[in-house]
Amino acid sequence: MEWLNESEKQLSIIDSLHHQLAEAETSAGSKKTYHVVTFGCQMNARDSEKLAGILERIGYVETDTEDADFLIYNTCTVRENANLRVYGRLGQVKKLKKNRPGMLIALCGCMMQEPQVVEKIRKSYRHVDIIFGTHNIFKLAELIQERLATGKTVVDIWKDTDQIVENLPNERKYPFKSGINITFGCNNFCTYCIVPYVRGRERSRLPEDILAEIRQAVADGVKEVMLLGQNVNSYGKNLEHPVTFAALLKQVTEVEGLERVRFMTSHPKDLSDELIEVLGSSEKICRHLHLPLQSGSDRILQKMNRHYTKAHYLDLVEKIRTACPDISITTDIIVGFPGETEEDFLETMDVVQKADFDSAFTFIYSKRTGTPAASMPDQVPEDVIKDRFDRLLSLVQEKAAQASGRFEGMTVPVLVEDVNDHDASMVTGRMSQNILVHFPGSKDLIGRIVNVHLKCSKGFYYIGELTDN
Ligand code: SAH
Ligand code: SF4
Ligand code: F3S
Repeated sequence: MEWLNESEKQLSIIDSLHHQLAEAETSAGSKKTYHVVTFGCQMNARDSEKLAGILERIGYVETDTEDADFLIYNTCTVRENANLRVYGRLGQVKKLKKNRPGMLIALCGCMMQEPQVVEKIRKSYRHVDIIFGTHNIFKLAELIQERLATGKTVVDIWKDTDQIVENLPNERKYPFKSGINITFGCNNFCTYCIVPYVRGRERSRLPEDILAEIRQAVADGVKEVMLLGQNVNSYGKNLEHPVTFAALLKQVTEVEGLERVRFMTSHPKDLSDELIEVLGSSEKICRHLHLPLQSGSDRILQKMNRHYTKAHYLDLVEKIRTACPDISITTDIIVGFPGETEEDFLETMDVVQKADFDSAFTFIYSKRTGTPAASMPDQVPEDVIKDRFDRLLSLVQEKAAQASGRFEGMTVPVLVEDVNDHDASMVTGRMSQNILVHFPGSKDLIGRIVNVHLKCSKGFYYIGELTDN
């Protein structure tokens, strides 16, 4: 059969699986369940919503435990410990599968793009039924069909792709906010990073496809979108009709009914003056910029292939704060990159002193097979890294507490996301700055943007009080 496009083909397979599942459920007398476990970044979280969308459309119902008829792990391999957690979980679920005839276990995501991982799973974890990668998640239904038809383990990994499949179902985790992919893949090849190898070359979606998805999301009740890409600032450069990220962002703010826009991640080397201008131009653009520093040493930044210097980074921070004084800037920092000396490390500490980050994610350098940094000389000894990591963390915490306390006493709009984890009489929401606020309130506030008085800063979050709304 000739298909007009890939998504129609997949929707037809989903339909046929739907009938098959309904018959199986009738004879078993119960609903079939699914569970998705997500590791890694927002990109993976968004992919998981697409996987869940396909499974829901087939007819599976979500359950909150791994004891499900269809269990899928969407994996991450950015650091070694992400991989170790997946192997641990896989070992444990073997027993579950024994007790649940017909259970299917699938693995997908970044880790599966590494041939040595797939080999290990095929050898040592034979209870896995379906293995696929980052480029073909839209094929989930087809892979399930193949598994059911052949009874054999299905492995389908693509090395790379230039395809972007639009219009497949997706099941949003929160009805009021949604990630929206704007680019896939990465072309930057920072020397420590495995993402370009497992996510492929950078591809930008067409602005009209992005805007159509956002309009649909808003029609479904979404108030806040987060535009997603490994480096959003290089969005649109390779489109047939190039569009800048700043121009796209401006168009997104014009979508009627949308209340908030966030985006992630910004690479300092591509952050333009045009973007800084747009940042401050609309109330809809959240006052939060995640701007990964990685290191404050020019020598290390060069070895990391980051294409900026400490001075350039600090200059950017100053420009952004001038244009947008109430912005919150957060960052990622790696400690112990090969060849990092005490002097290099002190340069990183110096940027943390000067940049006034609201928070910083600090990572111990993890050697990733196949990346240039893995074979660089002078890998830093573990005890030295540990000592630097502890010093960095305490400085980050001290500075972040000072920085995020600056809104105390103000009344600000907060998007309410959840009932508080520890106290059911409270709810939790996010300020435009991405800072969490806990305040007394009931669950019917979830999904609403309300004004909250920030009574007291607790370091990296606030305790607030609802004002008249
Ligand atoms: N595209 C984003 C980052 C994606 S990975 C960017 O360029 O900013 C998220 C973070 O993981 C990175 O910012 C980096 O700090 C960290 N990271 C990536 N590879 C790592 C490695 N091999 N070891 C330790 N941390 C790493
Ligand atoms: Fe990795 Fe660098 Fe690409 Fe970010 S920009 S995903 S750190 S290679
Ligand atoms: Fe991990 Fe892949 Fe994201 S390696 S950080 S899930 S792009």
